[in-house]
Amino acid sequence: MAKLCVALDTDYEKAINLVEELKEYPLIFKVGYKLFIPYGREVVETIKRISPKAELFLDLKLHDIPNTVRNGVRGASQLGVDYLTLHTLGGKEMIETAAGVKGNTNVLGVTLLTSHDGGYLEEIGVSLPKEEFILRLAKIGLEGGCDGLVCSAHEVEFLKERLGDFLAVVPGIRPAGFSKGDQKRVATPREAVERGADILVVGRPIVEAPNPKEVVEQILEEISK
Ligand code: C5P
Repeated sequence: MAKLCVALDTDYEKAINLVEELKEYPLIFKVGYKLFIPYGREVVETIKRISPKAELFLDLKLHDIPNTVRNGVRGASQLGVDYLTLHTLGGKEMIETAAGVKGNTNVLGVTLLTSHDGGYLEEIGVSLPKEEFILRLAKIGLEGGCDGLVCSAHEVEFLKERLGDFLAVVPGIRPAGFSKGDQKRVATPREAVERGADILVVGRPIVEAPNPKEVVEQILEEISK
């Protein structure tokens, strides 16, 4: 069954309250720059203490020379983080070097950010169609040793068809009736799972809901059918 990941893009207090409120559910909590840069180890350890069953996803999208990224991956692994992102644009050597020290941490490759479009590719001198570029980056990621890839619900089917199965982590999820926010292309939890998503990343529809528990239950129920 697919898993649900709650993106804690909130301030510290709100994040900790949400973890407390949602600790009874089988969830993954995603921590990004907003919490990790100011609170680092403290926020990771606090979440694990409050919700020992939950998995932890550190979304730092690492991209640097191989040795530097290896240091980052080793540090995340030592912190006991279950998932960590890096940019496949960093290349195969960077990914291979990083994957060598990942321990129990699943390394997830990010391809082209959804904020980038064809105009960006032209700007950096890439003449490949966007889809082919994403496919090439995804291949570099998996060949380099990534356990999975972050991709949109609209790419996941195509990527699995071309590359075989991998752990597909899919953001841009909106349960029926929720606002799209700044996400341009969204899918419902059910649609995403039908297309091959293994982990659904959901932020605002849960963290900004008047009753986050209700939304979590609704999504878990929808993806368990
Ligand atoms: O609030 P929302 O559900 O849009 O949050 C989605 C989460 O997934 C955010 O933490 C965002 O940074 C992340 N994400 C994304 N699109 C990507 C990669 C990551 O929305 N392509």
